[in-house]
Amino acid sequence: METLTWLQPRPGGVYVDATLGGGGHAEAILDSIVPGGRLIGIDRDEQALEQASRRLERFGGAVTLIRENFAALKVVLQSLGLDRVDGVLFDLGASMMQFADPGRGFSFAAAGPLDMRMDGRQPLRAADLVNELPERELADLIWRYGEERWSRRIARAIVRARPLLTTEDLAEVVRRAIPRRAWPRTIDAATRTFQALRIAVNDELSNLENAIPAAAEVLREAGRLCAITFHSLEDRTVKHTLLRLSRGCTRSPGSSACTNGETRWLRVLTKKPITPTPAEIARNPRARSAKLRVAERMPDDSTE
Ligand SMILES: C[S@@+](CC[C@H](N)C(=O)[O-])C[C@H]1O[C@@H](n2cnc3c(N)ncnc32)[C@H](O)[C@@H]1O
Repeated sequence: METLTWLQPRPGGVYVDATLGGGGHAEAILDSIVPGGRLIGIDRDEQALEQASRRLERFGGAVTLIRENFAALKVVLQSLGLDRVDGVLFDLGASMMQFADPGRGFSFAAAGPLDMRMDGRQPLRAADLVNELPERELADLIWRYGEERWSRRIARAIVRARPLLTTEDLAEVVRRAIPRRAWPRTIDAATRTFQALRIAVNDELSNLENAIPAAAEVLREAGRLCAITFHSLEDRTVKHTLLRLSRGCTRSPGSSACTNGETRWLRVLTKKPITPTPAEIARNPRARSAKLRVAERMPDDSTE
């Protein structure tokens, strides 16, 4: 999706791939920045780091891989002695690797435990929400993070079927809770509920809300932030956070002081999100709902 054309990695530059995954984007960035450049790859999934480290082995010391939540971006960079970087990439959501492993519990395509944790060190699993949340809270969660209009019926059906142990059992209960005539045509009837649980288990939207301002702060002047999203909640979060960070100072009439105390961190370069071409979708069906938004760092003292 022209992501690298927008990120503009240049030889000798320092870049952060905040969602390393299997290392595909990281490898492409590294090809453009070596010799002399450096890539910091962050992921909270141990398996992603293992796979990426094998893939990126040939780049040697140009690569630093860190197991961390990207919300801690500033601390990660400080620990490496880096104040500023030339670009930050977020390729959000779960990876193909995570979806493809039934043992991780992300997918209803095969039976697996109700897990869905990107970071295996965290205690909260999908099973805890599915089997323990009060019905009303579960319905709210499915409504808010899944934008699922049948959330109340689904929550009621889940509570009646407790305890649910596998992804297959959960998917079946969700499908049965939605009248067949109302099943979506292009996605499985269980998709929205699974998305909601995954977002909640991994606290995906709050992490994103915290990480984008942190990325804006560590960018060098004219450095770029690229964010690829896969569903509307994620895209809305990116869009609104970028807009907030690109709004300048508000002054009351006749005064030179900022009344909102805002620095103008960013300039948004994509009024509308960039979407994949039909050829890209044919090559990679997962790209179907991808949206790319890009912003550029303003000079340090920019308020307007
Ligand atoms: C869509 S995949 C990235 C794929 C990657 N661009 C590639 O080319 O292989 C998203 C990755 O981001 C990681 N991730 C999601 N949220 C995260 C967070 N808050 N902190 C760290 N990693 C996160 C996931 O574990 C997953 O491996």
